[in-house]
Amino acid sequence: MSASINAASFTAHFAQLSRRHFLIASAWVGLPSWASAQPGVIAGPPAAAPDTEVPYVQTPPILVRRMLQMAEVSRKDLLWDLGSGDGRIVIAAAKEFGARAVGFEIDPALIRESKRLARRARVAERTQFVERDLFTLNFAQPSVVTLYLLPEFNMKLRPLLLAQMRPGSKVVSHEWDMGDWRADETLTFPSTQKPHGTKKEHVVMLWVIPANVAGHWLLRFQSGGATPPVQLLIAQRFQQTTATLDQGEVLWSNLRGTQLSMAIKSNGSSLLLSGEVNAARWRGKIERLGQWGNSTGHVVGEFSAQRTAG
Ligand SMILES: C[S@@+](CC[C@H](N)C(=O)[O-])C[C@H]1O[C@@H](n2cnc3c(N)ncnc32)[C@H](O)[C@@H]1O
Repeated sequence: MSASINAASFTAHFAQLSRRHFLIASAWVGLPSWASAQPGVIAGPPAAAPDTEVPYVQTPPILVRRMLQMAEVSRKDLLWDLGSGDGRIVIAAAKEFGARAVGFEIDPALIRESKRLARRARVAERTQFVERDLFTLNFAQPSVVTLYLLPEFNMKLRPLLLAQMRPGSKVVSHEWDMGDWRADETLTFPSTQKPHGTKKEHVVMLWVIPANVAGHWLLRFQSGGATPPVQLLIAQRFQQTTATLDQGEVLWSNLRGTQLSMAIKSNGSSLLLSGEVNAARWRGKIERLGQWGNSTGHVVGEFSAQRTAG
């Protein structure tokens, strides 16, 4: 099913359901200025919001927990829920996982309800609820962003999240994907009680913001004797990478956030390079690969790589 059909049927379902069960979100009125002095707000015109409205539908509590577990939320995190409804994800992140958490929501009634529920859960100090259009935000601050929106919203947010969130930060979406930016992890839960759609299951997806690793690198091995550097070329689309060496062969490469691993064949040895990318540097350890291309855990040295051109 195409994204637009999904979105249309999702909206139609909820518009219908709302008459009975749900509070439909308010229209795009009364929003504070995008240029306000609040932290995290873009100092420029916001991306235009999609035409569709996202209705208010709640993520079931069990899924809230699974979303937060999937992102391994902890005390160290600052979580933002975009379109926070009654604040359940924000409150759970603070209460059950110890994080600081902020909910952004356009419906003032839901903001009031969220604050009441946060006080009741005794997490008012660790939580914040802000009446704001999510498309006016800058995403440099949060380490985790959670979403239960619509396909068009996810696709509009995608370039902003990729450009603004720090590499290694996480995005978790309930129900809707990010088009051809494939999720790093997907969980599916059967649900006979799901109120909409023909598929009686919930899907939760996790993306880790990938570091930018594309370009030409000079790779140096420090494993005993001095060896001349080799040229490495990495092509990248989202977290998918393909790499080539001027001397030797790249068997596979894998990028998760700032962690880049690469299995190579060089001078007759099969080696696994794994380490952290920090801007134009990639450093880490070298392990010898086993017969089946598996890691033996046997560290034989270290490497460092410097990007010479993007
Ligand atoms: C499907 S509900 C999800 C609620 C909550 N995150 C959850 O998972 O239970 C989407 C919420 O997004 C809010 N919303 C829609 N458009 C928004 C926007 N542009 N900015 C902020 N909130 C928005 C709606 O009012 C609604 O409460």
